[in-house]
Amino acid sequence: MAILVTGGAGYVGSHMAHALVDRGEDVVVIDDLSTGHRELIPEKAKLVEGDIADKKLVSKLIADERINAIAHFAGSIVVSDSVSDPLTYYENNTVKSRALIETAVASSIEAFLFSSTAAVYGEPGVDLLDEEQNLQPVSPYGWSKLMTEVMLRDSAAAYGLKYAALRYFNVAGADPEGRTGETREHATHLIEIAAQAATGRRNRMQIFGTDYPTPDGTCLRDYIHVTDLIDAHVKALMHLLNGGENFVANCGYGHGFSVLQVVDAIKRVSGVDFRVDMAERRPGDPPALVADSARVREILGWEPKYDDLETIVRHALAWEDQLVKGRVKL
Ligand code: UFG
Repeated sequence: MAILVTGGAGYVGSHMAHALVDRGEDVVVIDDLSTGHRELIPEKAKLVEGDIADKKLVSKLIADERINAIAHFAGSIVVSDSVSDPLTYYENNTVKSRALIETAVASSIEAFLFSSTAAVYGEPGVDLLDEEQNLQPVSPYGWSKLMTEVMLRDSAAAYGLKYAALRYFNVAGADPEGRTGETREHATHLIEIAAQAATGRRNRMQIFGTDYPTPDGTCLRDYIHVTDLIDAHVKALMHLLNGGENFVANCGYGHGFSVLQVVDAIKRVSGVDFRVDMAERRPGDPPALVADSARVREILGWEPKYDDLETIVRHALAWEDQLVKGRVKL
């Protein structure tokens, strides 16, 4: 099997490239390296530096490399940036995905995996989110991903495209073998930022909002270890290639941790009591986002292996240590 991994030099995509290479599959990564890093890609994967919307390039790649499936991770991911610069998000996440889907259909790709997000639900008022919730994003980021889900749904109906869209909750942690991890010059995610505070890459961090209607007043999120998320992708790929139905499913564990619990876990595991300032709420943060993960478990028989906050944090810290030592050129 040969798989094209878009955004394979990024955080989640590089974990997928490693997982596929580990299974002995042929992997071709396409990435424009705008935010990705070539050091994160496995040696055995081929890197093509280019644009996923370049139909000529991608269709030639599919033909030359005998690609039968596409795992589409490339995209922009900072929710607040999508609010200040929506058109860039619609371009990168929606318009480019449309071109890629067109190429996939024209090239008769057998399976298409898409990285969607819990941001498609907006600000739900329920404790556990199943896939039947209203889809009412509150950010251009959420809309840009939802529009791609809609294009996939309609392309499946019209052209018979086989696809799965996985709605990620809060992806965290790093490869347990230390080969890749979240690598950004400007961190925005909680565990990434707290790990930077613990390893000295920053001297303090802030907690955004302490007056939410949650047990300790800080937001609850469903943190899923990136390796478990990738396991769901590999299973989804096999499911589709073996004739399974198309599906859209949440990827989370089904329970949340508060911001304070996460920060405490990082202090405990690292042994560093870094400075934490209480700050105002960050606009657009819903109090709680926790997945009902019944569907992904049922369809794929997926069982997480790293559903443990300390393990997630330990792996994130180990990767952050490598970054401090200059493992990747930032
Ligand atoms: N937070 C802080 N301080 C920080 C960073 C974050 O207190 O320095 C808080 C946020 O306010 C929020 C929580 O930590 O309450 C998690 O924030 P992240 O930025 O880590 O993640 P989000 O929940 O905002 O968003 C992430 C992804 C989205 C995805 C969403 C789904 O970035 O793409 O999870 O749950 F849609």
